Amino acid sequence: MKNFSKSTIYQIYPKSFCDSNGDGVGDIRGIIEKLDYIRSLGVDYIWSTPFFKSPMNDNGYDIEDYLDINPMFGNMEDVTELITEAGKRGLGIIFDMVFNHTSTEHEWFKRALAGEEKYMNYYIFRDGNADEPPTNWQSKFGGSAWEYVPSLGKWYLHLFDVTQADLNWDNPEVRNELKKVILFWKDKGVRGFRFDVVNLISKPEIFRDDEEGDGRRFYTDGPHVHEYLKELVADTGIEDMLTVGEMSSTCIDHCIRYTDPGEKELSMCFNFHHLKIDYKDGEKWELQRPDYDKLKDIFREWQLRMQEKNGWNAVFWCNHDQPRVVSRLGDEHKYWKESAKMLACSIHMLRGTPYIYQGEEIGMMNPHFDKIEDYRDVESINYYKILRESGKSKEEALHILGERSRDNSRTPMQWDNTKYAGFSEAEPWISLPEDREGVNVYDQEADEDSVLNFYRKLVKLRKEYEVIRDGSIEFIFDSVKEILAYKRVGEDGDILVLNNMSKDEVSLPQSIDMTGRKILLSNYDESRISGIDVLRPYECIVIQ
Ligand code: GLC
Repeated sequence: MKNFSKSTIYQIYPKSFCDSNGDGVGDIRGIIEKLDYIRSLGVDYIWSTPFFKSPMNDNGYDIEDYLDINPMFGNMEDVTELITEAGKRGLGIIFDMVFNHTSTEHEWFKRALAGEEKYMNYYIFRDGNADEPPTNWQSKFGGSAWEYVPSLGKWYLHLFDVTQADLNWDNPEVRNELKKVILFWKDKGVRGFRFDVVNLISKPEIFRDDEEGDGRRFYTDGPHVHEYLKELVADTGIEDMLTVGEMSSTCIDHCIRYTDPGEKELSMCFNFHHLKIDYKDGEKWELQRPDYDKLKDIFREWQLRMQEKNGWNAVFWCNHDQPRVVSRLGDEHKYWKESAKMLACSIHMLRGTPYIYQGEEIGMMNPHFDKIEDYRDVESINYYKILRESGKSKEEALHILGERSRDNSRTPMQWDNTKYAGFSEAEPWISLPEDREGVNVYDQEADEDSVLNFYRKLVKLRKEYEVIRDGSIEFIFDSVKEILAYKRVGEDGDILVLNNMSKDEVSLPQSIDMTGRKILLSNYDESRISGIDVLRPYECIVIQ
């Protein structure tokens, strides 16, 4: 298994990245147009969320055909060109493999619905009568995880939307079909794969009610997940490609097994524990202020345990399912720039492979939509209804969506300061934030001190310093809640990384003598520093 400590990955949400044909929807040719920009960031790989044929109920995570391209985004020629043109620029393309479920529009599911036994075995059907689902499990998008099919007298399982039917991985034919998909794209020159919610693929043998939760404890990191992953990787020969698993509600012990190179499963995985520190009692749709003590505990635990046991993390704040991190943990006003840079620094200097989600590198913020009509995301729309039914007022429900909706990160990429931000000539499929002055690539290219150029420096530092890539990590200054600080220890020397996560000045428990030390990067004027006793609002410093 190859090591990807030197790499940085740039994530694209194609629908919102760049519209080349003026229909208000981003497309593959739009990505091709921006390849030079992506290369200028210094990144090594591009992960694009799915652009396969799909009814788009979950924006492409509901796949109708794994081997065909959604005409909304382009065609096979465009994809081939994307792979080739990216390759010329030293960029590898990572495809998003949604293998836990297919769209109910997939040929396999349609044949299952028609009663063909072979294809019914591709999915998870259970007998039952119309008013009693097989278990009380809840879908991640709200409501029951089961849907009744009257013509069959059976229920099928969908952990996500009702149009996303879970595949039956216990059936070897299903596993073989999915291997063919990998081989098809590998043959086309794809250089890596992201596996969507891949720790949910192995369901329990016996399905029973969950008296404590929504059912996830029965199928998360399920009984055969490691075996199935090993088989998929071995049979498709992708052990040396970049593979990243998206792990829903996982735990460290499993992530160690997923990513220990000796296990030959995946290069790295995403977990989301650090992004639940503002969920009240673990509930996504209940707000609370971010708990920084908890954030530090989570980072410490995950970083240290993964290091100790030879696991590897994908490190990130943002993706297409998360609100913008500046709005969430930073400051949208006075310290917008400082906080955007500090958040970038705090994550990029960790032990792991960093991911940058489109727009993060220019400090994009949540759009603050104020009406339900602005939302497009299936989960957000479902939860708006659920919140209203639970007695929340319109304003309260909209306030919660404004903080939590996945659409917060799905607004068009801001390329310049024109009407539609240079994303499109036409009105985009989803609105742009109104307040976005200076938050665009064009303005930030011209400013040496911009958030954009700060990201470039972070990516470059990783390439230059072995200690950032492969050094070990130790956490320091644990007693100060607002400060996330750590030391990386490597063969080419050590570095100290100090981040003030708050809008106030914070004193360090121990001052840092700068004699013989050098500042590699910081988000304030560096010249003032001879010794460091305090960190200014949202200040970050990397010291060698
Ligand atoms: C993952 C994707 C998300 C999608 C879900 C179901 O969490 O990131 O966007 O809705 O899986 O496929």
